[in-house]
Amino acid sequence: ADQKATNVHWHDHRVSSDDRKKLKGQKSCVLWFTGLSGSGKSTIANTVDHKLAEMGKHTYLLDGDNIRMGLNKNLGFSAEDRTENIRRIGEVSKLFSDAGLITLTAFISPYREDRDAVRELLTDGEFVEVYVDASLETCEARDPKGLYKKARAGEIKGFTGIDAPYEAPEKAELVLDSNSKEIDDLADEVIAFLESKGYLS
Ligand code: PPS
Repeated sequence: ADQKATNVHWHDHRVSSDDRKKLKGQKSCVLWFTGLSGSGKSTIANTVDHKLAEMGKHTYLLDGDNIRMGLNKNLGFSAEDRTENIRRIGEVSKLFSDAGLITLTAFISPYREDRDAVRELLTDGEFVEVYVDASLETCEARDPKGLYKKARAGEIKGFTGIDAPYEAPEKAELVLDSNSKEIDDLADEVIAFLESKGYLS
């Protein structure tokens, strides 16, 4: 009933996604960074992206500000819009993954159900949930964009962690302690995880 286009059919490609993956010495996956605003998602994802590129891996980073200025510029921060934000990013990640890339995403993605829906969309082993674990206290003390201050002052409504929920992952493939560890060390933890699970060979 929610299918809007009729006479639309899925086409299998001549070059399967398995064929593409064999070409590159890497297994495509989606590194899904999730955490509070100011937890370090974007910075860590950027660092991992850079390290992977230096290793000759083909990657692509989808991150909050870029996507919300383009593909998702018609979405705000209501629960419904956040769900739609994550759904679209999940679909784009799936396409990139089929193209053989290691995709990195850095979105708060506060709802467990929305993240699980992306996990379901992808094939087994493709979704790597990375919880960037920094407490609200840590993030609020950092407040890199001054948004917590505005949220506390009531100037932003529905700010994650203040008056909108963040549901921490319960079965993340990887948990990064971003309260106390350095960005570069956390990025190395991600690389080590990918190596140990065979994503980089
Ligand atoms: S979500 O929840 O996954 O759809 O959010 P995301 O697309 O990652 O966007 C988060 C960035 O938007 C800014 N911002 C807000 N965040 C949370 N709540 C509210 N109400 C809000 N309004 C604006 C904020 O800068 C987030 O940036 P990050 O990089 O996470 O700090």
